[in-house]
Amino acid sequence: MTPRLWPLVAALLLAACHSAQPLTEAQSAARRPADVRLAALYDRSCRACHTVRDSGAPLSGDHTQWDARWAKGPGVLLQNAVAGYNKMPAGGQCPTCTAADYAALIRFMADQPQ
Ligand code: HEC
Repeated sequence: MTPRLWPLVAALLLAACHSAQPLTEAQSAARRPADVRLAALYDRSCRACHTVRDSGAPLSGDHTQWDARWAKGPGVLLQNAVAGYNKMPAGGQCPTCTAADYAALIRFMADQPQ
C-alpha cells in the first residue's frame, strides 16, 4: 500500500469505531447495571422488554435505537417512562422505582455515562 493511502485507512478505521452498530438481543441481554440494587430493579422490569426486539422497545445498549431518543433530553425520557409512551407502560412495571432510579436506568439503557 502506498503511504499516500494511510490517512484514508486511518479515517476509515476511526469511522468504523465511532459509528454505532445495532446490538443483537443476546448482546443487549448480556448488559447489566453495575449497581447491584439497580440491576435487581432492572431485572424485574425494564429488561423483559428492552432486550427483546419484538416488544418494540429500544434494545438496552443499542445506540442506533437510543441516540435519537436521548437527543430529546433525559428529562423528557424520564417523564415518558413515568407517564407511559405508546406501548411503553407507565412506570415500566417497576412499582418501587424512584425518579432517580428511572433516570439511572434510562442512562444505563441509552449507554450514557452515569
Ligand atoms: C412491557 C414492556 C416494557 C417494559 C417492562 C419497559 N418498557 Fe420502556 N419501552 C417499551 C416500548 C415498547 C417502548 C417504545 C415506545 C415507543 O417509542 O413507541 C419503550 C420506550 C422507552 C423509553 C423511550 C421513551 C421515549 O420518549 O422515546 C424509555 C425512556 C423507557 N422505555 C424506559 C423504561 C424503563 C426505565 C423501564 C424499566 C423501569 C422500562 N422502560 C420498561 C416497553 C417497555
